[in-house]
Amino acid sequence: MNPESAVALTEGLKTLLAPLDGAGHSLTSLNASEWFSRSYLQKVYGGSLTRYDLYREDLPVSEKNIVQAKSEVAEKLPLLMQGYPIQYCVGEVAFGDHSYVIQPGVLIPRPETETWFEQILEMLRNTSAPDSVLEIGTGSGVLSCELLYRFSMLKVHATDCSQSALECASLNARQHGLASRLQLILIENAQTIFPDGLGQFDWIISNPPYLAGPAEVTKGVLAFEPHEALFEKSHLEFYRAIAERGAGYLKSGGRIFLEIPHERSQEILSLFQASWKNVRVLQDLNQRDRCLMAERNSDSGSVSN
Ligand SMILES: C[S@@+](CC[C@H](N)C(=O)[O-])C[C@H]1O[C@@H](n2cnc3c(N)ncnc32)[C@H](O)[C@@H]1O
Repeated sequence: MNPESAVALTEGLKTLLAPLDGAGHSLTSLNASEWFSRSYLQKVYGGSLTRYDLYREDLPVSEKNIVQAKSEVAEKLPLLMQGYPIQYCVGEVAFGDHSYVIQPGVLIPRPETETWFEQILEMLRNTSAPDSVLEIGTGSGVLSCELLYRFSMLKVHATDCSQSALECASLNARQHGLASRLQLILIENAQTIFPDGLGQFDWIISNPPYLAGPAEVTKGVLAFEPHEALFEKSHLEFYRAIAERGAGYLKSGGRIFLEIPHERSQEILSLFQASWKNVRVLQDLNQRDRCLMAERNSDSGSVSN
């Protein structure tokens, strides 16, 4: 093996990260080494690298830089052993076709979210593009940014009660050249779901905090990810508020798309069935209910703000 190459970096990191394999969590030395190697190589070479690039002998990395990378990763190993998310270590996460910044204190976007999001965009491909979207609980801003990428005339308002989340979303929007079409709104009181003066939108989209309690997450998630992003404060609070008042924030024909907890999907469905139309639940790759979509009823009451 060429000792001054991408493969030497990746393999060297894998050996260093071997203790992860016996640690009883899902991160293995193989995937951790690939995360770190990709992150390192991306900084040097830019662009997007394939997995194949991580194992190339002809992609030069000096021995000095390999030693430096190993020493940085060795410092992070104890935290990783405790379940600290690797995404926070490398500071980035892939979502849609892009790479986004992710920082501690901000929920790491999940593959399940990406799945339903892609599904709805595919389903709505032949319908008219939205001009305006409200995202409730934007976190790192990945959903809003991906929408702004896909619809060039779109403007998005995105709320969050976490200052760290809004800073991360703002950084992502700026890095991707989307900031002029994204208005970020800080929610001062986490009990508020629709702040005053919002106006009306074509779509409302949200992956709200919906876990009922700590038993539903791993130790690593509980220890290191923000609780205000994970746990609801009262039973189905976001779904109840959106079912009851969301229509007031939608234009005629407006739609909502919500990530939902699969084990309570029937209860959530029944919240919407009475006063929304075309209510549908989409399933994730594990055939579990994951997204609820619905349309504003034409006879829904007037705007509530
Ligand atoms: C499950 S995370 C979703 C983050 C991101 N949209 C995603 O899918 O990765 C929920 C987000 O809602 C935010 N949040 C909690 N209560 C809120 C509220 N009352 N208004 C707006 N955002 C809130 C949390 O801070 C968190 O960023």
